[in-house]
Amino acid sequence: MGVKGSSSSSPPVVYLVLALAFNVAVLCNGGKTSSFVRKAEKTVDMPLDSDVFQVPPGYNAPQQVHITQGDHVGKAVIVSWVTVDEPGSNAVLYWSDNSKNKRRAEGHIKRYSYYTYKSGYIHHCTLRRLEYNTKYYYEVGLGNTTRQFSFMTPPAVGPDVPYTFGVIGDLGQTFDSNKTLTHYENNQLKGQAVLFIGDLSYADDYPNHDQVRWDTWARFVERSVAYQPWIWVAGNHELDYAPSIGEKIPFKPYTHRYHVPYKASGSTAPFWYSIKRASAHIIVLSSYSAYGKYTPQYNWLEEELPRVNRSETPWLIVLLHSPWYNSFNYHYMEGESMRVMFEPWFVQHKVDIVFAGHVHGYERSERISNIAYNIDNRNCTPVRDQSAPVYITIGDGGNIEGIASNLREPQPSYSAFREASFGHAILDIKNRTHAYYSWHRNDDGNPVEGDTVWFFNRYWHPVDDSTTK
Ligand SMILES: [Fe+2]
Repeated sequence: MGVKGSSSSSPPVVYLVLALAFNVAVLCNGGKTSSFVRKAEKTVDMPLDSDVFQVPPGYNAPQQVHITQGDHVGKAVIVSWVTVDEPGSNAVLYWSDNSKNKRRAEGHIKRYSYYTYKSGYIHHCTLRRLEYNTKYYYEVGLGNTTRQFSFMTPPAVGPDVPYTFGVIGDLGQTFDSNKTLTHYENNQLKGQAVLFIGDLSYADDYPNHDQVRWDTWARFVERSVAYQPWIWVAGNHELDYAPSIGEKIPFKPYTHRYHVPYKASGSTAPFWYSIKRASAHIIVLSSYSAYGKYTPQYNWLEEELPRVNRSETPWLIVLLHSPWYNSFNYHYMEGESMRVMFEPWFVQHKVDIVFAGHVHGYERSERISNIAYNIDNRNCTPVRDQSAPVYITIGDGGNIEGIASNLREPQPSYSAFREASFGHAILDIKNRTHAYYSWHRNDDGNPVEGDTVWFFNRYWHPVDDSTTK
């Protein structure tokens, strides 16, 4: 039966059609709020005796092994791990696939106390002068409790080097977190490194910031991060600032446990820094460190952006935790002051993509800017801007705080796609002009792409790549 036939006997259909027409003409500016309805269930922590948290067997066995890029260009790796019973060996033995000669690097140990907790021996060791595009094996520990892992170094930095990044944010350690990580691991588009957009363990959601949850989280993600680098961003759950229990040093657990190569990019603190990896120049910023004029982060970024050489690294990607463009009713406008400070620079330097987390859902913007405003005019509306980045919020790792299911209505015109689901993304850089991006919700099988877009590089191919009109 056609609409016309049914409408005469069924007035509600007329209203529906009119409502839809009104919606298209007046309200809908092309953005899409996904119709996918995730079943509303609470996120539940994996219990402490779960297999993912298991301590490796043996006396003083190294645990919580993780790696990240260890220099500016991808020829070094920082290996970190924890021993519990005694300091043990500081050394990492490593060798490439095509050599049997074991090299040895010495690291150093850190410990910290937090309220009534005393950490294990946290080892950090940088492996330097690695060959590009090479598989390396490495060993930590001693005797019977030696553990072996491996990683691939990236290809040499260059403009047309393909490279595949995974993107995960706000992970935590729930059953949903495990699903996100498993989906990422099983994705056919094999991620070679993870851009982790902040909020790691959520230890601060437990009584007195239970630091044991930092240990369990690191054991949970070891199965991925011991084998490929995760690029770290500091989120609000890394602050662990709790003066009521005597803990007055922000980021204490995070900075003891997770080292990043910030000095290699001229930064003075581990919360903002940059790396080059294959054809990407990645800038990490801190939403929770000062960014006003003359602050160290401001000064560093002002000098960093002109240093980016798009002929060497065409893809300019920024990672920060608190989103600048977010149409969920969670953390709304929390990123606004940082946006006001830095957005004109991002447009001037043609940043390709900005990844943020913090909001526990998924959203992708069109290329927009809101930089015309000054104190005298009224120009404070986001407008389409082909020199501007796409803003992606991907705080959908599945942590204990649950899903962000309350979305602002109507959907703003700058918002191209949004959905209240958990998931991860893959950024598959093909060459200097094209990158294929896909977002995968946990509720579907890995082959299902919840959101996809071909990004055109802003420097080499600044053609309109919007997905809505
Ligand atoms: Fe957050």
